[in-house]
Amino acid sequence: MNSHAFVQDRPLDFFWFLPTSGDGRYLGSDRGNRQPDNSYMREIAVASDRLGYDGVLLPTGQFCEDSWITAASVAPFTERLRYLVAIRPGVASPAQYARQAAALDRLSHGRLLLNVVVGGEAKELAVDGVGLGHDERYAHADDFLKIWRALMAGESVDFEGDYLWAKGGGQVFPPVQLPHPPLYIGGSSDAAIELATDHVEMYLTWGEPPAQVAEKIERVRAKAREKGRRLRFGIRLHLIVRETATEAWAEANRLISHLTDASIAAAQQRLAAESDSVGQQRMSALHNGRRDRLEVSPNLWAGVGLVRKGAGTALVGDPETVAERIREYQALGIDTVIASGYPHLEEAYRVAELLFPALGHTVGDRGRAGPQQPEGGHAGFASESGIGAGAAR
Ligand SMILES: Cc1cc2nc3c(=O)[nH]c(=O)nc-3n(C[C@H](O)[C@H](O)[C@H](O)COP(=O)(O)O)c2cc1C
Repeated sequence: MNSHAFVQDRPLDFFWFLPTSGDGRYLGSDRGNRQPDNSYMREIAVASDRLGYDGVLLPTGQFCEDSWITAASVAPFTERLRYLVAIRPGVASPAQYARQAAALDRLSHGRLLLNVVVGGEAKELAVDGVGLGHDERYAHADDFLKIWRALMAGESVDFEGDYLWAKGGGQVFPPVQLPHPPLYIGGSSDAAIELATDHVEMYLTWGEPPAQVAEKIERVRAKAREKGRRLRFGIRLHLIVRETATEAWAEANRLISHLTDASIAAAQQRLAAESDSVGQQRMSALHNGRRDRLEVSPNLWAGVGLVRKGAGTALVGDPETVAERIREYQALGIDTVIASGYPHLEEAYRVAELLFPALGHTVGDRGRAGPQQPEGGHAGFASESGIGAGAAR
């Protein structure tokens, strides 16, 4: 059995997203916006749990509610859902992050996953007092992870690196997942791939067209092979799934219907000026700020990235077609999808109801559709659009 076959045979892990910087119905408009207050985050987490999502990603950054506090506060209301929260090596010591990770892993009964984020925006990094250049941030993260991993495993350290030092240790309270909760990373630069292949289990990419994802996966695999390691792969994208392709594309256009050429140009200029992220450059290059060529490969739409940094593409279409596109990524070695859609509560339901059956995504013992509806359906739940409209107020 080669490694490729192994990865493809693995059932898909399907994650959703907690929008801790806010949610809404339109990009680039205040209309229909929702604050990321804790009760709303809990609603999405509870829904994701019962619908059969395997986990949720919590982003990190200047404009996000803190991902650790959020995960810790909602985890007790969920049973199976895993929480992918970020470690940012520049903002706290490895020992502090080790204590936090062990505590959250115990509190959630072993449902913690960690996303290593070095950051890519000078302005945001400056707030954290991080002034290192791009590759230095990854070298610093290497020091950080060496100390953090040793401490998580309960070892004492005597480490002096180029950026960090630590002495002593022996973690008092161990995590549930030993030697430590799984590490994920998303970064497209050579420095990111070097770090990934030294330390992490899961390499994440934003939703680029399959050919570009294939090239990236091959680069990571080759580097990992040199080190005698094998990684898993995940993809982060938005989804716009409707019963028909026509409805799905209409929804995609509606989502960006309040954007103007000026707001797109301003967002793109800001990103170009402030970000040194190779991953971000690859996302921005897909559309180059142009609204007329957004389907960058079949059913892959770059409209979200016109004004949103990070994950900028969505798979758009009817359930069977989107499932087929996801299978194309799976065939490349992707075994984890981290998806989202606006607004995140309603779209969590829509994706689970329309796409999971088409994908054959199996749900644990909860969240299955109820018994067959009586003839004529349940009057109270007949109108999905009615429920959505209510929630928007
Ligand atoms: C799935 C995924 C999730 C990410 N989440 C965050 C995040 O929450 N906050 C952040 O600042 N950067 C995030 N990033 C960005 C990267 O972690 C990284 O900092 C950035 O892309 C710079 O690395 P690069 O130049 O190697 O691409 C994410 C990237 C990916 C692929």
